[in-house]
Amino acid sequence: MYPRMNLWTDMKNRDEIGIALLGFGNVGSGTYEVIEENFTSIKEKVGVKIYVKKILVRDLNAGRRVKAPAELLTCNPEDIFKDPSVDIVAELLGGLEPATEYMIRALDSGKHVVSANKAALAANLPQLLDAVERSGRVLRYEAAVCGAIPVMDVIDRALAANKISGISGIVNGTTNYILTRMGEEAADYASVLADAQRLGFAEADPSGDVEGFDAANKLSLLIWQAFGKYIHPDKIARKGITELGLADIDAAALRGNKIKLIAQADDGPEGVEASVAPREVPADSFLGRCAGEYNAVQLDCDMAGPIFLMGKGAGPRPTGSAVVGDIISIARDMRSGV
Ligand code: NDP
Ligand code: HSE
Repeated sequence: MYPRMNLWTDMKNRDEIGIALLGFGNVGSGTYEVIEENFTSIKEKVGVKIYVKKILVRDLNAGRRVKAPAELLTCNPEDIFKDPSVDIVAELLGGLEPATEYMIRALDSGKHVVSANKAALAANLPQLLDAVERSGRVLRYEAAVCGAIPVMDVIDRALAANKISGISGIVNGTTNYILTRMGEEAADYASVLADAQRLGFAEADPSGDVEGFDAANKLSLLIWQAFGKYIHPDKIARKGITELGLADIDAAALRGNKIKLIAQADDGPEGVEASVAPREVPADSFLGRCAGEYNAVQLDCDMAGPIFLMGKGAGPRPTGSAVVGDIISIARDMRSGV
């Protein structure tokens, strides 16, 4: 659940909100592009100007997909935690540490935090929520689950009236992209994985994608959001796609099916059952029709019935859209003094 705070009064009357990006790789640069290119429309919608004040990187001289003014870049995180003009820190580093430590430092320094880092969030959610409670600041992480799809917000707001008993979906873009191209073009696994890396879909260590760790991290966060129960990702049964070959995909096709990496969780009387594994689904079903880097999630709700969401699950701009959506949500609350 997203904790809701009421500490915005110091922020009312501000016409400018400062952002720091931790990381300027695929997602950091995509987030920067969204803020820069849609600056005016965001200002009109939110009523404030959103500026990137600082960007944390490892290497000041690295070649970058997107150019930002050199004076924004720093290798020293203290430049961000101690900067009073930074209201919101977007953690887009990846990995468990120092990402978790930096999120906690940012919250304890009075900053709100937005993160796309499902590995750190899923592994360390209890400590992060403690820091939220202690600091009275907000942590949002829409971008961590299914890229551009607003699934966390839909569960939190639009479906708040429901008990959700089941989640099933395709929550990893890289593996879906690989399986789609292997099925459609008989493409070679290694070359399609290289394409997924080039396009900015894959994790820095792509074994996180193809071994199912990334999907397990996202499922852990979905279980928390939908069922209100925390399950560490290590406790989720997990199998990736590395043992699949073209012969398996062709055999499934002869049965009218596609193979997809399915994340599934049910909240039953015996507790939560959760798994990530390759499964055959009918080619013309909702999940069967989810192709390329797209993700798809089905939520089984007691009042609404089944809800289906689909959209781009990876890539710089789709993920940047979700990061900036969270930033705007916080900025709106800051403006309205919620
Ligand atoms: P990248 O590897 O492309 O970028 C990571 C960035 O973080 C780089 O700019 C790097 O600096 C910086 N960085 C890493 N460690 C440190 C450190 N210790 N100190 C300072 N800077 C550091 O990763 P992505 O952008 O692809 O992913 C970022 C996060 O977003 C991950 O948690 C990932 O799981 C998540 N995510 C990714 C999506 C995607 O489509 N790629 C989608 C949704 C979530 P430098 O450039 O100098 O090396
Ligand atoms: N590597 C991840 C994926 C990025 O392919 O889904 C989006 O979370």
